[in-house]
Parts: sequence; structure tokens; C-alpha cells
Amino acid sequence: MTRTMLATAQTAPSANNAGYSDYVNPQWVRLLGLLEMNVRYKRCVGAELFTSDGRRILDFLSGYCVHNLGHNHPRVVAALHDELDRSGPAMLQSHVPELAGELAAELCRLAGGRLEKVYFCSSGSEGVETVIKFARLFTERTGLLYCTGAFHGLTCGALSLMADSTWAQGFAPLLPGAESVPFASLSELESKLASKKFAAFVVEPIQSEAGVRVPPEDYLRAAQMLCRKYGTLFVLDEVQTGLYRTGPFLAAHHWDLDPDMIVLAKALSGGLVPSGAVLMSNEIYESVYSSLGRSIIHTSTYSENGLAMRAGLATLKALQDEELRTRCEVLGQYLRQSLRDALSGYEMVAEVRGLGMLNGIEFRRPESWQLRIPFEAFRKVHEGMFGQIVVSKLFRERNFLTQMCGNNFMVLKAAPPLIVSEEQITEFVSAVKQVVEEVHASASFWMDALHMARRAVNV
Ligand SMILES: Cc1ncc(COP(=O)(O)O)c(C=O)c1O
Repeated sequence: MTRTMLATAQTAPSANNAGYSDYVNPQWVRLLGLLEMNVRYKRCVGAELFTSDGRRILDFLSGYCVHNLGHNHPRVVAALHDELDRSGPAMLQSHVPELAGELAAELCRLAGGRLEKVYFCSSGSEGVETVIKFARLFTERTGLLYCTGAFHGLTCGALSLMADSTWAQGFAPLLPGAESVPFASLSELESKLASKKFAAFVVEPIQSEAGVRVPPEDYLRAAQMLCRKYGTLFVLDEVQTGLYRTGPFLAAHHWDLDPDMIVLAKALSGGLVPSGAVLMSNEIYESVYSSLGRSIIHTSTYSENGLAMRAGLATLKALQDEELRTRCEVLGQYLRQSLRDALSGYEMVAEVRGLGMLNGIEFRRPESWQLRIPFEAFRKVHEGMFGQIVVSKLFRERNFLTQMCGNNFMVLKAAPPLIVSEEQITEFVSAVKQVVEEVHASASFWMDALHMARRAVNV
């Protein structure tokens, strides 16, 4: 087989992919082909994904923290069937969607503090857009402050809170007035806030895509105090960290925070219906919806749709009934400790960190020349190459789905559904150890890198 034939065999879309490749996103199909991750999933349940060619893959990514309950949880599926079967009001846009009231009440009860009103939307980005509008109106300021490395979504407003990242390249001008500060730096935060031009400081309590960065113990409480001092709203993006992903219902609860607004999405509707929610104080809500004439000043057609609301209620109930908070805390600790024990002593493993089931394995540039030479060579081809080979090997050879963080290609995510079993965690740890062992001791890992680099050049 020639090099080009090999490349074609491994990256050309299959007949089943043709429609997607022709009409949706051919580059995505090519990328999955290049990584040899383009498989056909036939059935997905819990943490297990079954493919049409008989493989069983364990999900340690959870769709970037969507599948807290696991795939196709029977209680969420049943709730959706019920909702469809009752032929109730959908999208009338002229009635009171009672299920939205029920879900909002439950969300506020679980969140606590001053979060007493909910705006529903259909994605995390739309939630962030809402935060931007409401914060500007409430504070009568225009500035927006965010942290370097953050991920807040790819619509124009949300992207303005990532304006210093590669995600924003080519899309300027974004919203004026958005500025960044380093995550976990209180002095730089205070010097920005002191200008009193910022409506909101939007921050992920744990920066997920930046590399699962858990802040120092006192950072978020101190940041909240500084925000209060200078009249800036303290807003938490809990799109990944919410819904018990890190243990408690919100990551905010680890530090006893009292945010002005929080954004939820992803896991909110059990991974089956688009849904998001912004929880906020009454004061903020009343400043926006301040009169009859403004009762629909900020809305979105599908935001309070019955399927999303029913899925949300069923998801919250299942998460609580199955006591997934405790499971997440206990097994999350077990996952981190097992990874630390298995990976200690490997030159390229810097750290295992995280909270609950949001964890990262950080790799580092090797010092020894035997590893440094191939590592640097492949980094020149693409800085994400090393990580993608780790991901691809875990997938192809060990049947585990995970990914590197979107803004930090040296951190591998370990974020399974919260229903993952101890045995599945043990399997994962052993698979990661075997791949890490190959990185350090076998030429085959770096040969794979070479093949991938060639294929990338050829397609
Ligand atoms: C922390 C965070 N905020 C916001 C978003 C945007 O959410 P969505 O993709 O639903 O628009 C994401 C998406 O990955 C995210 O991780």
C-alpha cells in the first residue's frame, strides 16, 4: 500500500458518512478519519458505547460533561416518551409553560443563595449571551471581564469572552469592552475591577478546557468579594461543572459562594434535548423584565419547550435518587488516586488533578533526549499532535473515548459519566498506564505519530 493509499483508506468518508461529509462538515469527517476514531455507534447506554462492528467503548469524556447520568438514562427516556404521548401544548408561545416553573423552582432550591429566578435557553452559549445582556442592563456598565484560557461558547458575545484565544481568530470585531485577566490572580483582577467599568466578571469555577484548572482554595471567595466591592456582577459559568459533575450540585458549593448569576447547560436535560438555564437574583431579573411592556424583552423560541423541561425534571430527580453526588465524590477520589499511583515516576506525567468526576492528566515536555527529540519534532508538525496520538491509541487499542482539553493540548480529560463503576475506572487506569508506558518505552508510539503526521500531510 502506498502512503497516499494508506491515507485515503484511513481518512476517506465511508458510504454512511457521505451525506454528512457532502452537506454538513467534511473537515470533521476527515479529522475523525485521521485519528482513526470514525466508528459507527449502534447503541449507547450508561458509560458504554457499542459500535456496529462489535466493539464496546467506555466513555471517559461524557460529551464534555453532558452525560452526567450516562447515555440514554431510562428515566429520562421514559419522561420524554410520556411528554410526547400526552400531546400537550408545545410552542404555542401564548400560554404559561407550567413545567418551566416546576423545573425553575427545583433548580433554585438546589442552587440556593440569592438565585431565585431562571431564564431558560437552549445552549451554554445562549446562557452566556443572556448574562452579558442582563449584566449590562443591571449595572449600566459595558465592560466584561473574563479569564485567560476560558471556554464560554462560540456565539459572538460568548466568543468575546475568549477574544484572546485561537477560537476567535478571523471573527473580529467582537464585542467591545471585553478584557481578560489570568485565572487565579487576585491582584490583576482587582486592578481591572478598580476601573469600575466592568458589568460582570464571568469565570468557570474550575477551568475545564484550559486544562482542568482547580483554583487555589481562597481565590473564588476573594474574587467574589472584590466584585462586590467594585460593583461588578460575579457570574459563574457552570456549564461543565454544574449538575453534580464535581460533587455538589454546583462547583460554587465547594467554596460556599454566593454568585449573582450562574449558567447551566450540557447535563441539564440528560444529554437528549438541547437546554440551558441562567439562574439569577430577583434584583437582576426585575431590572430586565421591569414592566408589562418588557415581559418578553429577552426570549428564545424553544427555550421553555416541554421536552427540555420534562427531561430536566427527570434528570434532576435521577441524579438525586441515585445519590450520584456521593458516588461522584467517592469514585472521583478513587480515580485520581489510582491514576496517581499508576502514573507516578513517568517522566512525561506532570500531575493528576480535578474534583469529583472532572479530572485531567497533565503531560509535560520530556527532559531526556530520547523522548525530547521525537516530542519536539512532532510538536513542530502540530502542537496537539502528541495528545491526539494518546487519545487515538486509547480509543483504537484500548477502547476508551476521551480527549485532550480544548485550550490545553497537554491535558487529557478523565470525565466519565457519574454512574461509572469502580471496575470501569480500574479498566481505564490500566489502559492509560499501558499507553503512558508505551510513550516512555516503545518506539511504536512515536512510529504511530509519524504515520499520523504523514497522513495529515497527504490528506
Ligand atoms: C464552560 C463552558 N461554557 C459554555 C459553553 C458553551 O456551551 P454550548 O456549546 O452549549 O453553547 C461550553 C461548551 O463547551 C463550556 O464548556
